[in-house]
Amino acid sequence: MTIYANYAATTPALSPVVVKELCEYLGGTHLNAGRNFEGLEAGAIALRARRAIAKLFGVADPLKVLFTSGATASLNMAINGMVRQGDHVLSTGVEHNATARPLEALRKSGVIEIDWLRCDPDGSLDVQTLRRAIRKNTRLLVMSHASNVLGTILPITACFRIARECGILTILDTAQTGGVLPFTMGDCCDVIAFAGHKGLGGLAGSGGFVIGAEASGEMRSWILGGTGSVSHSLDMPEFMPDKFEPGTQNTIGILSLAISVEEILRTGVERIREHECALTARFIAGLREIKKIKIHGTLDPDRSVSVVSIAVQGCDAGEVSRYLFENHGIITRSGLHCSPLAHKTAGTYPDGTVRFSFGSRTTEEDIDTVLEALSTM
Ligand SMILES: Cc1ncc(COP(=O)(O)O)c(C=O)c1O
Repeated sequence: MTIYANYAATTPALSPVVVKELCEYLGGTHLNAGRNFEGLEAGAIALRARRAIAKLFGVADPLKVLFTSGATASLNMAINGMVRQGDHVLSTGVEHNATARPLEALRKSGVIEIDWLRCDPDGSLDVQTLRRAIRKNTRLLVMSHASNVLGTILPITACFRIARECGILTILDTAQTGGVLPFTMGDCCDVIAFAGHKGLGGLAGSGGFVIGAEASGEMRSWILGGTGSVSHSLDMPEFMPDKFEPGTQNTIGILSLAISVEEILRTGVERIREHECALTARFIAGLREIKKIKIHGTLDPDRSVSVVSIAVQGCDAGEVSRYLFENHGIITRSGLHCSPLAHKTAGTYPDGTVRFSFGSRTTEEDIDTVLEALSTM
């Protein structure tokens, strides 16, 4: 028997409802959306998923939901589609490389300047830090909703409100919060990037972004190609969703998202959040009883998603993960978690930490078993 404690990386299994409907679909015939009459089915699947995701993020127009291969592709498209030569961009000291690398590449090629907003070692961010960093030419703020290393939730509403007052565009990375933390787009967020294979319960290689009314004009298409529409033109169409969905779409991935997000909506994100908060609280309380363990991140489960990073005194992070798996069947992830920035913020760079992350199928018994295993180290 294994205990999966790596939900921050990916959700380990599709829900039975998703598996059943995907299997039925796989037995049929598949054609491209928008390329022929039969392909109407793919278009209908995409619309079903757009509707579910629009509802999840509180967006009125489902055509503002666009599909990509995941949060990484979405962040690359949004960042590169929005910045212009000479822009100043703000982001935070806990970002994933999905944000940090595209921004750094633009900085290195002389297109933008960046300031990484300093966070406290537990991953929290003071909104005054943002206020102080804004310049005349600041055009874009890119932020994670919650750190994938420390679990800490960032004050995105307050930050985006300040950004809006200053005419700054905003991109939100919800890879760690989509489907597990109640959130609606509101009127201060321009782009929400989402990962399909984590809290949203879809297949790997699914995901996308939601775009606000203003940003859809500001953002250029960054991946260009055929859309099955205005085919006489060598330019991308300006209308949604074609402007941002060239090429053949991942219909099976999009269908997995439609089914899974509909299920999440039936359950209610608030209920999912309650379950995960209770697990995090139990885990943190137990960890605090174990002398050799240092928790990196907030100790307050209400300010965190179900992601907890630790160091075990005298042990290398990789060794701890190996010990837990080989002796107790517990699956964790150790190292830098694709976020050197967050580890620098936490003071755990370059050694990294052991990360535990819990989800829909984690039970209180699982948490107790993990704590028991850690106490024997
Ligand atoms: C905070 C954060 N952003 C972005 C990503 C990338 O997501 P995707 O796998 O959908 O590209 C991840 C994945 O680990 C993440 O944790």
